[in-house]
Amino acid sequence: MFKGALFDLDGVIADTAILHFKAWQQLMRTHFKIELPLELETKTKGVSRNDSLQTILNFCEIKVSSTQFIQLAAEKNTIYQSFLTELTSTNILPGITRLINDLRVNHIPLALASASQNGPLILDKLGLRHNFAAIEDPSQVKHGKPAPDIFIAAANSLGLDPIDCVGFEDSIAGITAINTSGATAIAIGNATELKAATIVVNNTDKLSFNTITTAFIEAHK
Ligand code: BG6
Ligand code: MG
Repeated sequence: MFKGALFDLDGVIADTAILHFKAWQQLMRTHFKIELPLELETKTKGVSRNDSLQTILNFCEIKVSSTQFIQLAAEKNTIYQSFLTELTSTNILPGITRLINDLRVNHIPLALASASQNGPLILDKLGLRHNFAAIEDPSQVKHGKPAPDIFIAAANSLGLDPIDCVGFEDSIAGITAINTSGATAIAIGNATELKAATIVVNNTDKLSFNTITTAFIEAHK
């Protein structure tokens, strides 16, 4: 039986994943008159702010000074945070509140392993922060997703080895990070894209305690 649950945030707990990309689109439109194609979203999902900006600049074949890079990253965050002002518990994805309750009833502690530095702010707005025994600060881990660091740190903060945990993710980078950490990867999204996970559900509403237990057993066969 698994002993801990490690959660990504954007696209797993809240419907905020697309807001990151909308903020990048607005930034690139304003500064470079470039319309970012939606296909880039997959490549920036789960990836830190700076790594996302670098991916976008590479895609657009744009070079900027280090000062401009810092300014662009900060401005993206201002745009993103302006999208968060209206965020409430209605933005919690379907089935997540039920899943959190099921985990609590079964005495499974929760840790947040999000790449977002806005994690604590978002959990507060959703009214979910008290459910988390640990919230990892992504600026304190050496390597961002797809490296496993934040999932290892999250498990350790719960006093656990990742091997005894399940991790929830909606991004390719995040699933790679969970798998490398040794935790059992449970993916939400496209089954082809996220096939490296132990199980993939197409919607958070499909995440039941039973399904997760089955996945954990499957991963440890
Ligand atoms: C991840 C998102 O959760 O957080 C990425 O999937 C984002 O799109 C990353 O770049 C960093 O977020 P923030 O809020 O620190 O810019
Ligand atoms: Mg995510």
